[in-house]
Amino acid sequence: MSQEAPEKTFTLTNDQTGESMKLPVKDGTIGPSVIDVRKLYAETGHFTFDPSFTATGSCKSRLTYIDGEEGILLHRGYSIEDLAENSTFLEVAHALLYGDLPNAKEKEAFEREITYHTMVHEQVHLFYRGFRRDAHPMSVMCGVVAALSAFYHDSLDIWDPKQRELSAHRLIAKIPTLAAMTYKYSIGQPFMYPRNDLSFSENFLYMCFGVPAEPYRMSPVLADAMDKIFILHADHEQNASTSTVRLAGSSQANPFACIAAGIACLWGPSHGGANQAVLEMLEEIGSKDRIPEFIEKAKDKDDPFRLMGFGHRVYKNFDPRAGVLKKAADDVLNDLGIDDPMLEVAMELERIALEDPYFVERKLFPNVDFYSGIILRAMGFPTSMFTVLFAVARTVGWISQWKEMIEEPSLRIGRPRQLYTGPAARPYVPIEDRD
Ligand code: SDX
Repeated sequence: MSQEAPEKTFTLTNDQTGESMKLPVKDGTIGPSVIDVRKLYAETGHFTFDPSFTATGSCKSRLTYIDGEEGILLHRGYSIEDLAENSTFLEVAHALLYGDLPNAKEKEAFEREITYHTMVHEQVHLFYRGFRRDAHPMSVMCGVVAALSAFYHDSLDIWDPKQRELSAHRLIAKIPTLAAMTYKYSIGQPFMYPRNDLSFSENFLYMCFGVPAEPYRMSPVLADAMDKIFILHADHEQNASTSTVRLAGSSQANPFACIAAGIACLWGPSHGGANQAVLEMLEEIGSKDRIPEFIEKAKDKDDPFRLMGFGHRVYKNFDPRAGVLKKAADDVLNDLGIDDPMLEVAMELERIALEDPYFVERKLFPNVDFYSGIILRAMGFPTSMFTVLFAVARTVGWISQWKEMIEEPSLRIGRPRQLYTGPAARPYVPIEDRD
């Protein structure tokens, strides 16, 4: 009879009272093990304290693995470099949603399923009329995505696997349509209906840049670059917006509302909003000779300016996605014959920063947002649309993580505690006695 391996534990000792408790250690497939603290409060009356979750595992997940020290990113075990080089975005979506890359039959069926959900209810068009044309596209997306739950009542029951799958397909398929409509509305052009004869990324480019007045000339290079950009942004473990989606989902909110919550969180310049902020920063720098001035600003603790597109909570090495995007930027600019001075400034900024001790000591490398904006601008997107494009891709990761959570045996509402530092109980003071 094989001996079961003894349970791995950590012993926690209270140095004031000498009391100690054993905390179970759980191992993953690869990566750091975790100390299970679920019994800590019941047995010690203490909470853990980790305000921005730098050392907290919030869930178990089988979707994405990141090794920040080595610059490794895997989706269902496949490296991001292999996926970006060899797969389509919908193949990656299938892997994240269902656990593996599709075979030929599954791929065709999944592509057809997504394609036939790309249209939105005709009344959704009316929501756009309520926005100013110069509304930030992310404000529009927050609104129209949450509004989808008003139209698709047949896929709101999160306990029905078929309805869960239907809402996942609808979100993956319709958010590109809503994103393209958001762009069209902002420039006063008519909405373009999806076309079922185009691939996911071809269709998105068509809905953004096509016009009813003439046939749209599809560029295979741009369609390939768009698909690659979507793959690189598809999922990224328990980042801020994914954690937002999971927390919203833990209350049993419907999936459309959860994804809208993720979009709201992604908007922040510390997160998905960084790709827009990178281009605005490069435009502010303007030329290579001003780079030293901005490097000093980024190092100045009294200056809130940060080098946008640099640094990452997890990657303390190159963000593997940045490397793929840097090459894609070269390919797209060469194909379009664009000599974008911003790319020159970006590459010089990267070179200088990576030699500067401040950035080297803090392991601040270019992240996924550093090069993506340069490609997107070359493709014709305004900077205000960059985070929307991030949301189009990340919807796949968000809804896959949401589905994984809902399918866990016991869904419990996420409800963190705190270290209270406010006043202890005190007597009420009538207004006439207040100073
Ligand atoms: C994304 O989590 C994910 O996976 C996100 C994402 C995904 O795919 O979902 O990868 C997408 O959000 C990428 C990150 C995009 N954001 C930016 O590019 C904005 C600029 N970067 C920083 O704001 C910052 O690096 C963060 C927010 C990304 C990470 O912040 P942390 O982990 O909280 O790091 P920190 O603020 O504690 O910084 C550590 C030190 C500090 O200096 P000291 O106090 O040690 O002296 O590094 C400094 C910071 O001041 N620092 C920077 C800097 N980033 C960190 N200094 C100048 N410029 C920067 N960009």
